Amino acid sequence: MSRSESAEIRHARTGLVFRPGLEGVPATQSSICDIDGHEGKLSYRGYALDDLAAHCSFLETTYLLIWGELPTPQQLRDFEHEVQMHRRVSFRVRDMMKCFPSDGHPMDALQSSAASLGLFYSRRAIDDPQYIYDAVVRLIAKIPTMVAAFQLIRKGQDPIQPRDDLAYSANFLYMLTEREPDPLASRVFDRCLILHAEHSLNASTFSARVTASTLTDPYAVVASAVGTLAGPLHGGANEDVLAMLDEIGTADRAADYLDAAMASKRKVMGFGHREYRVKDPRAVILQTLAEELFARFGHDEMYDVARALEVAAESRLGPKGIYPNVDFYSGLVYRKLAIPRDLFTPVFAIARVAGWLAHWREQLGANRIFRPSQIYTGSSMRQWSPLEDRLPSAST
Ligand code: ACO
Repeated sequence: MSRSESAEIRHARTGLVFRPGLEGVPATQSSICDIDGHEGKLSYRGYALDDLAAHCSFLETTYLLIWGELPTPQQLRDFEHEVQMHRRVSFRVRDMMKCFPSDGHPMDALQSSAASLGLFYSRRAIDDPQYIYDAVVRLIAKIPTMVAAFQLIRKGQDPIQPRDDLAYSANFLYMLTEREPDPLASRVFDRCLILHAEHSLNASTFSARVTASTLTDPYAVVASAVGTLAGPLHGGANEDVLAMLDEIGTADRAADYLDAAMASKRKVMGFGHREYRVKDPRAVILQTLAEELFARFGHDEMYDVARALEVAAESRLGPKGIYPNVDFYSGLVYRKLAIPRDLFTPVFAIARVAGWLAHWREQLGANRIFRPSQIYTGSSMRQWSPLEDRLPSAST
């Protein structure tokens, strides 16, 4: 369905107006994140993303998103300490993960293990500030440990324990690769987490808010959001971008690939965004991060293919307001950091849990259960008939 076709459908009987994909329909009020899709600007709690990515750590940004203000030095130290203390996951969660199929997708493993935390921390006291704080700390602390654990478990190894002397991002890369990471790699990864931490009412955050509105526990909120993030039209696109760049192969084939994709109405992965009519500001920063890594650790020819595709898309997709989104360059960064392809979306989830939890708190602050209406398009009332009298209909 084209953008113009999808604009609005009015129901004759009720007068209700349906906008497919809820495009342009405000479904909540929020003070967490602001997007200017025409200028390509993004801010968290009123702070420009560029400033946060340049000067803050991911945990500092997480604190800002969830509690609304940048932390003082003492507040940050306390938060970092609490997160560090809760990084380990119970041996029972690890044992459960050992029963997962080793060829299962890590997003499915993450969704199941995130949901299982609700079993271990089952006191659902969402009006108790201490419960909320503890749940935030646990989820921020344990999600990376679970992502890294599944990576080792599926290779037939035992997960390694977090290291208390390593900061959040360095520790994740260590648990994943079993090597202490280079400081530049850790800093670049931390910035990637900041860039992915929040993005207003995207599909997974909407899912989180709908789940939160039922007053269920925060582990269920995060698990539902993880499931939503996994799809190829959302977080799963970063994995597909590299598959597409592989398929293109060399930079000189990018324009032909694009022409063929457009002729057959295939979506170009990592391009397009409901909110942006210009290049996604996160893609701009991710591109510079990729270049920093290439300058230090060696060039990646796949980057040349990506650049050629972006240049070719300028004249073909640009006029429709379709430009690279956050997923276009993130995979190239993660590839240079030796993160396996099918962990790209779980890594996205590690970051986005900050945004989901910020929205969880905000939803609880002024809750009304989500219950939209629908426009019924089914049959009018029909006469029931006994089983033995029924004939196959034309459609069966
Ligand atoms: N490649 C080619 N054409 C595109 C693309 C694309 N990536 N994205 C949109 N279009 C075209 C559509 O074909 C359509 O054209 P038409 O009006 O001539 O029919 C028009 O742009 C509008 O497209 P929609 O799919 O209606 O736009 P929507 O806002 O619903 O979709 C989405 C946004 C899902 C991100 C879409 O751009 C897409 O599928 N992109 C590829 C997948 C992707 O990269 N997803 C990650 C998004 S970022 C994130 O979620 C973290």
